[in-house]
Amino acid sequence: MKISFNLCIRDGYLIIVYERHDTMKAVKVCKNSVLQNRFSVFEHSDWIGKPFGSIIFSNSGGFLYLLALTPELWTLVLIHRTQILYIADISFVIMYLEVVPGCLVLESGTGSGSLTTSFARAVEPTGYVYTFDFHEQRAASAREDFEMTGIVTMGVRDILGELVDSVFLDLPQPWLAIPSA
Ligand SMILES: C[S@@+](CC[C@H](N)C(=O)[O-])C[C@H]1O[C@@H](n2cnc3c(N)ncnc32)[C@H](O)[C@@H]1O
Repeated sequence: MKISFNLCIRDGYLIIVYERHDTMKAVKVCKNSVLQNRFSVFEHSDWIGKPFGSIIFSNSGGFLYLLALTPELWTLVLIHRTQILYIADISFVIMYLEVVPGCLVLESGTGSGSLTTSFARAVEPTGYVYTFDFHEQRAASAREDFEMTGIVTMGVRDILGELVDSVFLDLPQPWLAIPSA
């Protein structure tokens, strides 16, 4: 997982543009692009070099906040391909599974990847999350999201002989998956 702790926004970063609590989205900063909302037009070039958390005003009085992408915010803006877990349940799951830095976690199904991103941050910097979904299109979309956000790094790894610390199953009839898990 690579959450950026760089304090300033750069060209090419994926950031969260926050208008109000129910209006925010992930935007890739591109120096030649603009963001248009119902209030105004904002030029991305004005954002570059600004610290995360900055408020940006337009000439016509509109404003927005530029926030760093975190698992919490990603959960609020991601595209729902399935039902997802939200932060209250995610916190509970991570506490109860005792997921800490260095843990190996196995998750199925990946779904929309909401929980996966928080698992990935919780096991940083030496842990690893294995996430599986039998729905090919969903798995492919989740992989694209993980690559785009950088919150989860997709890897290739031989897990034979590895013991995982935690298993989380968010799928129908999870008890049937326990022997194979
Ligand atoms: C409710 S979603 C998981 C949501 C996820 N926890 C999140 O926060 O985004 C359940 C997922 O389990 C997958 N699934 C269901 N049965 C499965 C199985 N037997 N093996 C692998 N994946 C399965 C579905 O394709 C679906 O994407």
